[in-house]
Amino acid sequence: MNRGFVDLHVHILPGLDDGAGTLDESLAMAGALGQMGYSRIIATPHRIAGLYDASSEEVEAALALLVEAVRNLEGVSLKLSAARECHFDRLLMDDSMEGDFVTISKNTKAFLFELPFGAVPVQLTDFLFRAGLKGFVPVLVHPERNRELVSNHKLIDELKSKGVRLVVNLGSLVGGYGRAAKKTARWIIDNQLADAAATDAHSVQDVVITAAKAISEIESRWGSDAVTELLQKGPMRLLNEPGG
Ligand SMILES: [Fe+2]
Repeated sequence: MNRGFVDLHVHILPGLDDGAGTLDESLAMAGALGQMGYSRIIATPHRIAGLYDASSEEVEAALALLVEAVRNLEGVSLKLSAARECHFDRLLMDDSMEGDFVTISKNTKAFLFELPFGAVPVQLTDFLFRAGLKGFVPVLVHPERNRELVSNHKLIDELKSKGVRLVVNLGSLVGGYGRAAKKTARWIIDNQLADAAATDAHSVQDVVITAAKAISEIESRWGSDAVTELLQKGPMRLLNEPGG
């Protein structure tokens, strides 16, 4: 059933990071997402300096393979494109110095980044300032997985007031990353600070078990409007973010 869901954050491209290892795995994930009601997927392989640093040509080639394979999937209609989940590292600092980020679509100034799991880096404030100056919109994925943000929710509020958008992981809502992450992800939604929710799926199990359970959890806890907001309207806004 097509519910118009959009997944902004998923490790579905084959062989580029710790997500799908083969095209068959990618295809299984795509099929499962399609069955669950997704119609648009932004494939976001990790970009971590020295660890996962595929070139944009390699990402495009992996995307082309998957697009071709998905065409033959019966009963599934998915629009696929690619971006990156950029770690907060020297490559991202270079982007901010050059004023050029890997946006999540051609029509947006929004780009995805993740923080380390421990402390919030001291360079974050300057980084956000530089990105904002160039008109870009930083989208922080899984804020609920950073220990400093988990222990001080006021910092999450502050990030929002600086224009950072927040995308929680569906898995966090069902305890996939522990109790603290679950509590913080719920707090973010309770306080209407979440701009979207994404699967961050690395395998087909992450889709068919974790994400499916989390979508039911959103529906029962916050209602069907919240599902539409977090999985459809919110992601679409981020895909068409004019920045400025
Ligand atoms: Fe991710």
